[in-house]
Amino acid sequence: MNIVLLGPPGSGKGTQAKMIAEKFNVKHISTGDILREHVRNGTELGKEAKKYMDAGQLVPDSILIGIIRDRLSKPDVAGGYMLDGYPRTIPQAEALDKILPELKQKIDVVLNIDVPDEELVRRLSGRRMCKCGRSYHILFNPPKVPGKCDVCGGELYQRDDDKEEAILNRLKVYKQQTQPLIDYYTKAGLIANINGAGEINQIFDEISKVLSKFK
Ligand code: AP5
Repeated sequence: MNIVLLGPPGSGKGTQAKMIAEKFNVKHISTGDILREHVRNGTELGKEAKKYMDAGQLVPDSILIGIIRDRLSKPDVAGGYMLDGYPRTIPQAEALDKILPELKQKIDVVLNIDVPDEELVRRLSGRRMCKCGRSYHILFNPPKVPGKCDVCGGELYQRDDDKEEAILNRLKVYKQQTQPLIDYYTKAGLIANINGAGEINQIFDEISKVLSKFK
């Protein structure tokens, strides 16, 4: 089963993706995580991407299309995967539509997680990350020990793009460049709308019901 996760910044894509990957045994491919790894490792791509990411802008399509083509060509995606954060623009979706048949793959479903703007700002400004990839929230999803990851014990930190100015920019960019994809995938008959405003487990139940049909 191959899945695309769509949703604004802070809608819970990363949180739900970890749970989906475990239950449905699909590879979690997050373009945000891939880019952040490049930034951490100081690669040329990472240095270029950081300028855009810190400002809450999208990294150029040409870079992302290359990353995704490369990732989907790896043998470990054969059992199914979930794209979290790709595509984010119409050109990225069109590129994916070309890459998939070349690799003899297809997307089964696009989960569109919908959350009101005020809630997104609350979630992003309180988010704390661990370098192992887990995400917490100081109020809504706190770690058992403040400042420490429940899973690996790592020190939690705030992402540079979770500062207020970058958050507002990311929401603006989402509306202009990513929201049109809802229409794109509705026309392709692939969209499943998920109400992302409730409790984490309740949202996961709704997603699980949808995904069970594709197992
Ligand atoms: P990326 O890392 O993909 O960030 P994003 O899409 O902005 O999404 P987030 O990771 O911020 O949020 P999320 O939906 O995963 O929410 P989460 O589960 O963490 O991308 C970062 C940047 O990389 C982009 O801005 C761009 O520059 C670049 N980039 C990446 N892909 C690109 C592409 N394809 N093209 C161009 N550029 C690209 O949850 C958020 C918080 O809420 C957490 O604290 C969590 O604990 C809490 N929470 C989650 N669910 C709930 C709930 N139900 N109730 C209460 N709290 C909740």
